[in-house]
This record gives sequence, C-alpha cells and structure tokens, in this order.
Amino acid sequence: MTVTLSAKPPKGLFIRTYGCQMNVYDSERIRDVLKPLGYAPVESPDAADLVVVNTCHIREKATEKVYSELGQLKRLKEASGGRMTIAVAGCVAQAEGEELIRRQPAVDLVLGPQAYHKLPEMIARASRAIGDRLETEFDTIEKFDALPKTREADGPTAFVSVQEGCDKFCTFCVVPYTRGAEISRRVDDIVAEVRSLAVQGVREITLLGQNVNAFHGAAPAIEGQGVWSLGQLCRHISKVGGIERIRYTTSHPRDMDDDLIAAHGDTPALMPFLHLPVQSGSDRILKAMNRGHTADAYRDIIARVRKARPDIAVASDFIVGFPGETDADFEATMQLVRDTGFAIAYSFKYSSRPGTPAAEMHGHVPEAVKDQRLQALQALLREQQSAFNAAQIGRTLPVLVTGKGRNPGQAHGRSPYLQAVHFDGPDHLTGQIVDVKIRAASLNSLTGELVSLREAAL
Ligand code: SAH
Ligand code: SF4
Ligand code: F3S
Repeated sequence: MTVTLSAKPPKGLFIRTYGCQMNVYDSERIRDVLKPLGYAPVESPDAADLVVVNTCHIREKATEKVYSELGQLKRLKEASGGRMTIAVAGCVAQAEGEELIRRQPAVDLVLGPQAYHKLPEMIARASRAIGDRLETEFDTIEKFDALPKTREADGPTAFVSVQEGCDKFCTFCVVPYTRGAEISRRVDDIVAEVRSLAVQGVREITLLGQNVNAFHGAAPAIEGQGVWSLGQLCRHISKVGGIERIRYTTSHPRDMDDDLIAAHGDTPALMPFLHLPVQSGSDRILKAMNRGHTADAYRDIIARVRKARPDIAVASDFIVGFPGETDADFEATMQLVRDTGFAIAYSFKYSSRPGTPAAEMHGHVPEAVKDQRLQALQALLREQQSAFNAAQIGRTLPVLVTGKGRNPGQAHGRSPYLQAVHFDGPDHLTGQIVDVKIRAASLNSLTGELVSLREAAL
C-alpha cells in the first residue's frame, strides 16, 4: 500500500438547511466537523461531493419538502456517476431513520441531530461500503464534547447552542422525540466558544435552545456557583470583551424566572427582544396542548418583563386549528394578541404529526376553517408589526452593521429590536454599532440615515 502525502484537492460540500435556528447552528458545526477531512463549501449541489440535507420535521409540509429535495438530488447523483454522497441529517432523519433510505435509496447516510460529530466516521465507513449507514443515538453531551472547540465566525453575529432537547411534551409537537431530553451545555464550554467568536469580530451572540430559558449549565467552581440559570449566563457573557449584544431564543413561559426577567432590566447588553411562544389564548386549548400555563399567566409574564424593560419587543408563535378549537377559543387568541401587542409573530395551521398525542384527539378542525383563522390572525399580527416598526420613525437607534447594501454606499444592520435597518453609509462599517435616525418603516424593515459613527449601546 502506498501512502500519498501530497495535499488533496478540496472536496465539495453543500449543506441545505431547513427548520429552526438550531439547525442553522448545527449546519455550521457540520461544516466545522468536515473541514479537517478536506471538505470545503461549494455554491450549488451539482458541484458537491457530499450533500447534507439538514431537515425539519415540525409540520407535515416541512417533511414533504425533504422528500422532494431528495428526489432532485437523486438525479444529480446519477448525473455525477454516483460520485456524490447524500447524507440526511436533522429531525426527519431522527424521526424516520431507516425509512428514509427505504423511501429514497439514493440516500447514503442518515444521522440524527445528536450524531453529526460521527459524520467523518460514517463517511469513511460508507466509502468502504461497510457498516451502518444510520446514527440516531441521543448522546448530546458526547456530541458537544466531540465538536471542535473553536469556530469560524461568519460576520458580526453568531448563534451559540447552549441547551438542547425538550421535556415539555406539548401534545402537538415532535421536538421531544426528535431532539431528545433537555440537556444544558457546560458554562465554560459556552464561554470558550463565545470568546473564540468575539476575537474574530462577533459582536452579537444569540444563545439557542429548544427551551433556552430552561438552561441550567454546570459552572466551573472558579465561577462561584454550581449550576447557572440563563440570566446568570447572559450577565457573564456580557462581560466577554467584544460582545456588545446578547439575545436568546426560543423560550418557554414556564421557564421565565424572576432572575431572567431581572436580567432584562440590569444587563444592557441583553437586547430588548423576547421571543416567548404562547400558541393560543384559550385556557382550554392551552391545557389540551399541555403548555402548563394559562393565558393570564402569559399576560402577567409580559407585564413583568415590560416593567423590567419597558421598550422590550415581544414576539410569539401561534397555532390555529388545534383539535377541538372553537370560534370562542380562537377569539380568545385574538384577544390575547390585542391585549399584548406583538412586534412580530409566527403563526401556523395545526399540522397533525404521527406519534404525538394531539394526532389522536377528537375534533380535528377542517382545513377551510384553519385557513380563515390563520388569515384573520395574520392580518392582526401584520397590523401590530407595522405599528411597532412605524413607532421607531424619528428615533435614533444603535444599529449593528451586518453588511453592505445592494448598491455601493448602502449598508444594512439590525436594531436592538431585531428589525432590519437599511441606510446610506460607507463600506467599512460592518461589525460596528452606529447611530441611525429612522426615517421610514415598512412591514419588514426600517430605513434611516447615519447620524454618527459613535459606538452606541442601548
Ligand atoms: N420550543 C419552542 C418551539 C419549537 S417549534 C417552543 O416551545 O415554543 C416552533 C413552532 O412551531 C412552535 O412554537 C409552534 O408554534 C409551531 N409548531 C410546532 N408543532 C406544530 C404543529 N404540529 N403544527 C403546527 N405548528 C407547530
Ligand atoms: Fe415543542 Fe412544546 Fe417542547 Fe416547544 S416546549 S419544543 S413546542 S414540546
Ligand atoms: Fe424543525 Fe427540528 Fe427545529 S423539527 S423546528 S429542525 S428542532
């Protein structure tokens, strides 16, 4: 056997990401894991030696998309003479396992969200046509331990996973089955990752978790305390040099503790934005969903958060047409929206997921009724979103510049409230926080003019 020491040409890697921010984070980590093997990202799947489809199982449509994408990849694989390897990662991989290979034999590898650190080993096995093509074990801590400790930053903002999995078992949701039990990463690992991003120019960190505010990470003895809450973690990260802004998502009303609420008042780096899904405004439906709180409990949390941070932008998620939802239940949701006032919200028609308790419930709502309710809810939410954006007109906001605009002399960035902001400005501002006076607002963005390059904090 001869061993060649000359550098091999890079192998093309294409990752398609569906689903939530955790999948976005995971895709970045998959890229990091494959880098030492000589894989470099390419722009399109036809130039790739390895295609990873990182999938989402949350609604039926999301899962269907995966199969249609795999059909297209099969044709590309055939055109490549079989050279291309197709790996399916993420939540559909976890849920469907071997069924994926049965339904689409062009798939070479299937790996769940807790197994992607094993990808190099799986690729090696596949190339020798031996062993398992499936990894769907739940070993989250092992995954985090096995991942490269440093990360390549991609611009001034970054996601950092701090918590994974879910023990809440909302009756409509597949996540507890696809992501496994709730676990938190160790504080020192998180801080090391944040530091490595900060030295590369990252200014804004979004801490991620399926239930991020259930975070309870082991802190090293040197930091004083055994197990930290999310509030403590945010305060600590705000002291990392270079980190100006912290966000977290997605949180659960049941885990919105006093300390985290207080952090919104006492930690300026914690941005005034809270994504707190409520799903429904009807107590009857909240109970059937197993959310573990009432609509008034949600109102009370929002009131307390607003007391700590009066300008906070509140975001949420809604499901319409949950089994048994009546017109009166839906009206309670509309009332909760009117009472709360959301800066932005995501709303979905209930999608029945195999294996979840809600799928077995009586009173499934006809599609046409779901459509009507979704339209009414989205019209109200759009109104609130436009009003929230319009309320910024005339204010000067600190904007973290995230890149250049379409035309020379234009730039864009993010307001503290996570709004996209467009303004005229020089090319070299990316990564700086600048003052922008807001002149106009639309449903999805703000436009303004640069008033100072002074670094401002809000
Ligand atoms: N962990 C987060 C949500 C994760 S899923 C939380 O507890 O809020 C993101 C959103 O998808 C949910 O908030 C919910 O609004 C929606 N969703 C989840 N399962 C769904 C289903 N079966 N049908 C429709 N929407 C669903
Ligand atoms: Fe799904 Fe509920 Fe867990 Fe959120 S809290 S991931 S909606 S089970
Ligand atoms: Fe989808 Fe899995 Fe995220 S089901 S929403 S990718 S946790």
